[in-house]
This record gives sequence, C-alpha cells and structure tokens, in this order.
Amino acid sequence: MSEGAVKKEERPRKFQAIRGTRDLLPPETALWSRVEQTAHEVFATFGFGEIRIPIFEQTELFARAVGGETDIVSKEMYTILDRSSENIWREVTDLYNVFPHPSGSPDYSDFIKRLMVFVERVDNALTSGEIPRTDANVAAFEKLKEMRRDAQSLLTNDVRPGPQWAGIINKLLSWPSTLGFEVNLSLRPEATASVCRAYIEHGMQQLPQPVKLYYMGPMFRRERPQKGRYRQFYQIGAEVLGGSDAPAIDAEVIEMVMTFFDRLELQGVQLDINSIGGRNCRPKYVELLRAELLKVRDKLGADSQRRIETNPLRVLDSKLESEQGIIATLPRIADHLCEECAAHYAAVKHQLEMRGVIYRENWRLVRGLDYYMRTTFEITAQGLGSQNAVCGGGRYDGLVELLGGPPTKGIGFAIGEDRLILSLQESGKAPAQQGRDVYIAWMGERAHATAIRAAKDLRKAGFSVELPPVEQKFGKALGQADKLGAKYALILGDNEVSEGLWTLKTLADGSQTKFTEPDLLEHLRKQRAL
Ligand code: HAM
Repeated sequence: MSEGAVKKEERPRKFQAIRGTRDLLPPETALWSRVEQTAHEVFATFGFGEIRIPIFEQTELFARAVGGETDIVSKEMYTILDRSSENIWREVTDLYNVFPHPSGSPDYSDFIKRLMVFVERVDNALTSGEIPRTDANVAAFEKLKEMRRDAQSLLTNDVRPGPQWAGIINKLLSWPSTLGFEVNLSLRPEATASVCRAYIEHGMQQLPQPVKLYYMGPMFRRERPQKGRYRQFYQIGAEVLGGSDAPAIDAEVIEMVMTFFDRLELQGVQLDINSIGGRNCRPKYVELLRAELLKVRDKLGADSQRRIETNPLRVLDSKLESEQGIIATLPRIADHLCEECAAHYAAVKHQLEMRGVIYRENWRLVRGLDYYMRTTFEITAQGLGSQNAVCGGGRYDGLVELLGGPPTKGIGFAIGEDRLILSLQESGKAPAQQGRDVYIAWMGERAHATAIRAAKDLRKAGFSVELPPVEQKFGKALGQADKLGAKYALILGDNEVSEGLWTLKTLADGSQTKFTEPDLLEHLRKQRAL
C-alpha cells in the first residue's frame, strides 16, 4: 500500500448537507441568477430599492412580529443562546455615556432615575422570557440590583459628591464591561420583521413616503422537508412602508409580483385574494368563528381543536380532508367586515381590475403570521404538488408600532424562490448546460504562450473560453471540447504560430477555417450576433 493511502475502515467519515438544506449547483444556479436578475430589474422599474438585512436577529423580534403562537415561532425557529449583549442592551452603554466624570460636580439624579427604569425593564424581560432565565442572567440581575442599592444610597444620602463616593462610582463605571445578559438569537424565518426593525432603526419615516424596499436571501424554518419545502429556503420579497394605506398601493404591489412572474413566463399562475378585516371587525368575527367552531369541536382534528383557542382563523386554511365539509359551513369574514374594511377591500379589487390583474377571491385565505390585517393574498403556480404557494403576502398596518416605531402602514409579499425555480424547471424554462464558446487546443511551448494571449483577448471580447492547463494531443483536446459543449475549437500548434494563421474548427459540422488573429475575433463576433 502506498504511503498516502488510508485503509478503508480508517477513512474519515464523509459529511452531508444538513437535512432540509441543499447545495445549488451549475447549471441550475444560472437559472437562480437569471430569476434574481429579473427581480432586480422589474422591482427597480416600480421604484423599489434593495435592502440587505442580517441573517439573525433577537428572537423576541420574531416572536413579537410574527406571533408567539404561530407555528413559525413556537416550533420552527433555529435559536441559539448568545453570550454577548452589547447590541441588545444599549441602555447599559447609554447609561455609561451620560454618567459624568467623577471629578466634576454632576447631578446624579437623572442617571439614577434611568437606572431604576432599566432595572425594571430587565425584571420584566426576565419574567416574560425575553431575557432567558439562565443561571448567568439571574446572577447578572442580582448584580444589577446590588448596583441599584448602591445608586439609591447616593440619592438618599443627598450629599454633594465627594471622595466618599469614589468606591461606588468606580463600581458603577465598571458596568458595561462586567454586566452582560445572555440573549436568544434566531435565524430569520422571514424578513418582514427585520425590514420593519430596520425602518425604525434608521428613522426611515423621515424619507419621502412610502419607502419601497425589496430583499432576497435565505430564510430558516425547522419544517418537515419535502418537495418544495426546505429548512433553508430562499425568498425574494418586497415591502412598502409609510403613511398611506391607499388601495392602489396594495394593487400595485400585487401587480409588481405578477409582472415579475409574467416576465419569467411562469406557468399556471393563480392569484387568490381576501380581506381579513382590521381592529374594528376582526376580533368580533374571530369570536363568532370560535363560538361556531366550539359547536363542532368533536368533528375536528387535533390541530384545529387546539387552534380554536390559539388562533381560530387558522382552522380555515386546514387542508385536512375530513374538515372540509365543516369549514364550508362556517361564517365568512367577507360578511362581517366593518364599513371601512369592506370599502378598502372593494377598492383593492377595483384597482386590480384597472391594472388588468386577474384574481380569485378566497375567503379561506388567512395566512399563518399574526401581523396581517385587511388585504391578504397568495399565488400558486403549476408543477409544485402540495407545496404550491409560490408567493404569500398582505397588509400589516400597525406592525411597525408594535415594534416600537411610529404609526405606519405596511404591505408586502415574499416569493418562495426554491418553488419558483421548481415550477420554471417543470415547465421546461430552465436554461440548458452553459457550454463554452471556444476550447483552445494547443501543443508546444510557443503555442502555449499564444494560447494564453488568445484566451485573454477572447475573454475580453466576452467569449467563454476553456484553456487546458497542460498540453494535450489534438484528438484528446477535441474530445474534451465536445464533452464541454464548446461551439469551436481553436487549434494552435507550431505551424499555426509561425504562419500567424489560426485554425478554427466548428464542432457542430467539423468544418475548419484559417484566420489571422484580428479576422478570427471579427468572425466570432459576427457569428455571435447571428
Ligand atoms: P410566508 O407565506 O410564510 O410569508 O412565506 C412566503 C413564501 O415563502 C411561501 O409562499 C413559500 O413560497 C415560501 N416558503 C415558506 N416556507 C418555505 C419552506 N420551508 N420551504 C420553501 N419555501 C418556503 C412570509 O414569509 C411573509 N414574510 C411574506 C410577507 C412579506 N408578507 C408581507 N410582507
């Protein structure tokens, strides 16, 4: 056995991509790029700008935005406990910054008031679970309370600052480096929450409204993998945030995604829309629905039974065969919308018609995230089996406020890029293997130098060139050119180099022509233009 070889039983274990994740390989990735490029182009024509947001955020952001009872938050997030806390508990750093230098004669009362508020917040966050109740966090909280006692003693003693305070002040000053809370971070299961967070964080309400943003990238949900459903999947999404909830905004967002699908020639596109009402009418409808569901509780499956309590609306989008008959008899939200919501919904439909967007009304379309109100929509496409929703979206007025921002209206959608690609492939829209334009078959040292220069010139002119790294017999080189799907082989041997005439072989018909270097480039350019 040679020295480098390893006995079979000693070979290291091979790794595989994690369940629910996959490698995307060429030539399929060419289709991904084309889809993404088309999104950039189409969305730009509607005045949208690209936003790139982090892959992970504080878990609490998703819990609050998407909803703690939703499947996404309660079962499907990838969450880690992170030791660092500086970014999350900015108040600590802020307090540090306002803390005046001990040598001055500062007024500590403002600082101490803020400290009290901060301790209160941490206490609440520990109770609500926003800060996980780990040993380290409980210990840090105890320390914080000790600081509060110290600070309070400064207030109650009511003496002018002097050397007697130095110990306490130094202890307080050492906070930011010694006091940290562990927090839960999650891989993003969706991006709307992050976009709203960014809108608030960057004061985007100061920009001309509405702010129109789009994004693309991976999302993570711990779902049961199947065709069209992955644990790492990709979304292309867009959000419109601002002061207006004009129905034309809803319609234009939908028109944009339909234009995008049209440009890609996606087949069998079906748009479903609904209105799920707002603050005034939805709670009443949900109560009515709950009451009706309780009457038929025993006939429902376990999931729906649970949802009667947690989120009765979700029962409506149950796919369970045995529940379909019951669901058909339930009260419909369209009959229970308040005047404003009904008028908004009617106007959205009218606006869609003005834009020539064909839709189907679907009263059972409620969506699985808590932030929606009024307009909801979903788009399906052909060739996807049971996971056929290729896009979902809706209006979410109030979400920015829920995340601590100013009153803001919002609407958006996200396309499942994996599913979009699957559907395009099923309908034969995938590009074929991308072949090379020119394979350079060279032999001899002098020819190698010329081949390198020729490759450089051809690539500069935009041709795809394969330049073999080592010399090959011409027969083998031509075989290789064929396998790679090259259109031409450029033959460079000693004769060609000394004559200054290069041989170009068209692989499809085997014909050969000699060219000077400039003529060759000209010839290839003309052929490309045909
Ligand atoms: P969503 O309905 O949860 O909405 O997801 C949107 C789309 O992402 C789905 O229609 C589907 O195509 C795709 N998708 C979801 N989960 C998976 C998965 N496990 N594997 C493959 N594809 C998947 C949202 O995410 C909202 N943020 C959309 C939105 C934006 N609403 C307003 N603005």
